[in-house]
Amino acid sequence: MIILGIETSCDETAIAIIEANKGDNGLEPSFRVLGNALFSQIEIHKQYGGVFPIMAKREHAKNLTPILSRAMEEARNTLTFDARLPLPTAKEDEIKKLLEREDNLSAELIPFLNGIGKPHIDAIAITYGPGLEPALWVGISFARAIGLAWNIPLIPINHMEGHIVAALLKRDISSLENNETEIVASEIVRFPLLALLVSGGHTELVIADNWLSYTVIGKTRDDAVGEAYDKAARILGLPYPGGPEIARLAEEARIANIQSPLTLPRPMIHSKDFDFSFSGLKTAVLYGVKKLGELSAEQKKGVAREFEEAVTDTLIGKTIKAIEQYAPDTIIIGGGVSANTYLQKKMITAVGTLGAIKLLLPDRNLSTDNAIMIAIAGFINLSHGEKTQDAGIPIRAQGNLKL
Ligand code: KG4
Ligand code: ZN
Repeated sequence: MIILGIETSCDETAIAIIEANKGDNGLEPSFRVLGNALFSQIEIHKQYGGVFPIMAKREHAKNLTPILSRAMEEARNTLTFDARLPLPTAKEDEIKKLLEREDNLSAELIPFLNGIGKPHIDAIAITYGPGLEPALWVGISFARAIGLAWNIPLIPINHMEGHIVAALLKRDISSLENNETEIVASEIVRFPLLALLVSGGHTELVIADNWLSYTVIGKTRDDAVGEAYDKAARILGLPYPGGPEIARLAEEARIANIQSPLTLPRPMIHSKDFDFSFSGLKTAVLYGVKKLGELSAEQKKGVAREFEEAVTDTLIGKTIKAIEQYAPDTIIIGGGVSANTYLQKKMITAVGTLGAIKLLLPDRNLSTDNAIMIAIAGFINLSHGEKTQDAGIPIRAQGNLKL
């Protein structure tokens, strides 16, 4: 089955084409990435210290056609195509109508569609939430437009499910040499599965008894952990996104054994539930830093180290508590913050002491938002009974979509 995935929920415009097969017993699917293109808007949002939804939407509209063209170009030799035919006028009008609120999008997309034949793709997987609604809408309209043009049905995908399945991709070292994106992958997941999802918008612990059957057992009551990283970074005068910046300073502090001038709280670490809270931690950084006055470079590194320590202690503490209660066979960490090396290392050690639990960590560039994970989630949905829908049927963007 060939699936094209589209992701525009935040500040990454991404399109990927994957080939997915069920495997012998359906338990061990294999994936091959045929094409993958991503444009990160980070440089644009950096100057404002965060993501502006309307600006993100405009950037998606500008970049979707070039990104589609790049992904298709990469997949050109592995996909098959019908002969090239211009779009019938009625279809062209339908696409123009669908994209009428998206600036120049149809003016760019239609010539592109007229320039290539219909590719043999089985389904288009499209993120419809959670995320920034204006950004989600443009991705959905674009997905429907190419679905209409090529007669390919759609499968709407929850972005957080994408972050869970991102850990299924196991890099095949042998194919890495030829092409970074051509990865054959398969991971066996035994259920129950526990997922710790840590991103800029979410901090959740999720239990799944099977694919498509998720229960959120704990979540943040205020800020998400990535958001806390970004806010703490801003307080320390570091650029957006703050996660990688704090991680870098914290690592330098650990190497040089620089201690923190502040002690920070581990919010809710002893609470009986699986919820999190990170806004108090950010406030503690704010007041602590205010008290210290102008920070030296060393002090900044020390604070970054203590911040990362506090976050990691909390995330791991709650994960262990959930393992004790739910006895999962597989643990997955997903979302942008799962790229954090220190969190990964500490999690490997903590889970390692608990016996035969399989811990799956996503490849670094699949931790943050991408379209490969959306395409894989599309496959998982379709191979577990979900149905595609005609591109003519509307899909509503849902900023607060739950798992
Ligand atoms: O999943 P993601 O790409 O987008 C959302 O869906 O939110 O996550 C982005 C978040 C940002 O807050 C960023 O600061 C954080 O992930 N992040 C990190 C690291 N890389 C990205 N946080 C800590 N350490 C990192 N290495
Ligand atoms: Zn995300």
